[in-house]
Amino acid sequence: MAIRIQEILKQRKQDTKVTVKGWIRTRRDTGAFSFLEVNDGSCLSNLQIVADRELTNYDREITKLSAGCSVVIEGDLQKSPAKGQDVELHADYVQVVGWADPETYPLQKKRHSLEFLRSISHLRPRTNVLGAVTRVRSQLSFSIHRFFQERGFAQIHTPIITTSDCEGAGEMFQVSATGEKKETPFFGSQAGLTVSGQLQAEVYAQALGQVYTFGPTFRAENSNTSRHLAEFWMIEPEMAFCDLNSNIELATDLLKFVLNDVLETCSEDLDLFNKFIEKGLIGKLRSVVEDEFVHVSYSAAVEELSAVAEPFEYPVQWGIDLQSEHERYLTEEIYKCPVIVTDYPAAIKPFYMRVNDDGKTVAAMDILVPGIGEIVGGSQREERFDVLLQRMTDAGIDSKEYEWYLDLRRYGTVPHSGFGLGFERLVQFVTGMSNIREVIPFPRTPGYAPC
Ligand code: 4AD
Ligand code: MG
Repeated sequence: MAIRIQEILKQRKQDTKVTVKGWIRTRRDTGAFSFLEVNDGSCLSNLQIVADRELTNYDREITKLSAGCSVVIEGDLQKSPAKGQDVELHADYVQVVGWADPETYPLQKKRHSLEFLRSISHLRPRTNVLGAVTRVRSQLSFSIHRFFQERGFAQIHTPIITTSDCEGAGEMFQVSATGEKKETPFFGSQAGLTVSGQLQAEVYAQALGQVYTFGPTFRAENSNTSRHLAEFWMIEPEMAFCDLNSNIELATDLLKFVLNDVLETCSEDLDLFNKFIEKGLIGKLRSVVEDEFVHVSYSAAVEELSAVAEPFEYPVQWGIDLQSEHERYLTEEIYKCPVIVTDYPAAIKPFYMRVNDDGKTVAAMDILVPGIGEIVGGSQREERFDVLLQRMTDAGIDSKEYEWYLDLRRYGTVPHSGFGLGFERLVQFVTGMSNIREVIPFPRTPGYAPC
């Protein structure tokens, strides 16, 4: 029976015949037999294989195995006398599927820097840390879908190619056909890669009530930071008949749900991060699940930050967009927990956010977490036709291109809200990885897009 190592270690069955398929991590010879550590990617742990010198290919092949070789092993699971493992596999048969030249295989037993691993992006998932990140990322994705599906949200596949710049920040990548002429663009007008599925999600929320998107998002910001990617994944729920408070509640519930889920399902991988990447990580995640988030208005946050003696690179005053240093100071130094900041100045936020009664601020909310800063950005949307049109005019947006969006305010408009959760920032928060490039399989950043 072919079986994955995760199952073997879970069941701890002894005296059973199994077949295991994976890659050699190490080999140690004792004279009478060899110990092979094999990893198949199903979990962090390796399985110890005992290969007796009586095996027919022992001298010819087994004693030549090295890190990276792929193997299929049949044998008996037996109780292991060694510390730290319940079972080991006594091989009846070791088939070498693919050799890996030890002279050139880049992954050696020593610890490699994460920067070095990024330079071999085709091999880095074979390391403990990147394998663990990948499993946690997959589990988080599954938990997010479960959260929304269990609450009756429909998943919407919003377009990747779009003609609207949702955030209005002019950070789009252009899409054109090879040899396309400027006068006759392929899509009739200039198209780009989406910066957000929100506007399209709003369409479906105003028909299905509760929807969400989970898709790739592209931003041509030239920011080479540890929290920005040119291609990232975003989760964007949108709810009709929903104000800012219910929106905040949904975002808080989502974060607590997925963190709780990952604490239960990924404990082995989280232990690794807790030990080697961020000390105290598991305690941090538990407290986010259990404790209340702090809620503060933008104006109050600016007041708090203005009172800080420490000089910031960007001085704080009402009206500025909070910079990463301000966000992190709020969540790491002042409150020491996740912080929800609401009611930002209208002038620094996109046209679609609902204008508050004071006429100066909008019903926006950002969630800031320690170590990252902004992880969620959302708002109640402007549902009043006239106010929306005015905001578009003020922002210099050609309303003719957004007639379809304005139609939603003409026909059966409703208060509605939603937010965007940056998936890689969530994976960063859960794994403690300090650079966002470590939490996506193939990162894309300015000047960088290998394989
Ligand atoms: O705050 P943002 O720009 O919000 C929106 O796009 C809204 N349309 C969302 C909505 O209301 N439906 O982005 C949302 C989140 C940020 O909080 C951050 O976590 C992540 O997306 N994000 C990035 N992650 C990685 N690299 C980048 N360049 C990112 N830009 C934003
Ligand atoms: Mg934002």
